[in-house]
Amino acid sequence: MSAETVVDFKDVDVIFKEKNKKAVHAVNHVSLNVERGDIYGIVGYSGAGKSTLVRLVNLLQRPTSGSVTVLGDDMAKLSASELRQKRRKIGMIFQHFNLMASRTIADNVAFPLRGVASKDEIKKKVADLLELVGLTDRANAYPAELSGGQKQRVGIARALASDPEVLISDEATSALDPKTTVSILDLLKSVNQKLGITIVLITHQMEAVKQICNRVAVMDSGQVIERGTLLDIFAHPQQKLTKDFVDTTMQMSATIKTISKQKAVQNLGPEKRLVRLTYLGSSTDQPMIATLFSQYSVTANILFADIQSLQNTPFGNLIVVLTGTEQDIDNALKYLNDSDVTVTPVDLKEVESK
Ligand SMILES: Nc1ncnc2c1ncn2[C@@H]1O[C@H](COP(=O)(O)OP(=O)(O)O)[C@@H](O)[C@H]1O
Ligand SMILES: [Mg+2]
Repeated sequence: MSAETVVDFKDVDVIFKEKNKKAVHAVNHVSLNVERGDIYGIVGYSGAGKSTLVRLVNLLQRPTSGSVTVLGDDMAKLSASELRQKRRKIGMIFQHFNLMASRTIADNVAFPLRGVASKDEIKKKVADLLELVGLTDRANAYPAELSGGQKQRVGIARALASDPEVLISDEATSALDPKTTVSILDLLKSVNQKLGITIVLITHQMEAVKQICNRVAVMDSGQVIERGTLLDIFAHPQQKLTKDFVDTTMQMSATIKTISKQKAVQNLGPEKRLVRLTYLGSSTDQPMIATLFSQYSVTANILFADIQSLQNTPFGNLIVVLTGTEQDIDNALKYLNDSDVTVTPVDLKEVESK
């Protein structure tokens, strides 16, 4: 059975043209499929076009050209009342929560239900949602009395009030500290798993993508420059920007800077090579470093090791100095390649210039 497409961007452009200003191509020929059950990460620096892209989903933004189909309907072709109905299927949460300061938490969550449900239904629904997000005891508090993480929980409960099928998160954790970010992402993951809600997660934090997404697209200057499964993007990034984003999850540039100051890497002779080894899952099980020595007479001095978990698959990054004859090292590198270990030379000059 093929997966059901929930959001389908087809060759979409958004061009902002203001008087006396240069036109901004905020979304540039983007085609993208989000499938039911996905937690689809869209990552990019500020100004990449992420918010404009997701505003197309509920037609807060109209495409200049191309089409955006949500749950089977081309958004631009819906009548006003059809659009209103459709928008109820699309929940949204934001960086700054957008809560109503003068209303209680319960009233904020109930807001999307006004006029479409009875008083009793609303009461029950709000109680259920507050329980889901862990805020039952704060129902009568006001937003100002809540922490940032709690405010975002209210935002999530409110977004779920109309039983959406897709939830859009636009930098929802960007104003939160790291620990709170983890707990909000955990909540989104459980919303995805328990309620079957498809999530589009916009962020500039690759760490957030790593924690909960199954698929990723990288945006730069309005374009999707790379996309793939989470494991693919982490293990085999193709574009420089994608590599940089992956490296942020292990503080790689700081690491290489530190390493570059070590004696072990200064004045490397022809018998030594400084390389980074990147591998996923199965390679970990092999006694890789031991094999380098026993089969190829190459010793590996490990300067840095980082093993993280991506969807329960180990993802390893090592920086090592290999020592051996040139021929032995070449053979060892070939063995590593054949074992699905990506070998990249570490260029210290590049670091020094940063
Ligand atoms: N309403 C608008 N009018 C003019 N330019 C806009 C508008 N909205 C966004 N832009 C521009 O489009 C580009 C992409 O912005 P945005 O989608 O907000 O990026 P991101 O969310 O990735 O930071 C930026 O150059 C921004 O200045
Ligand atoms: Mg944005």
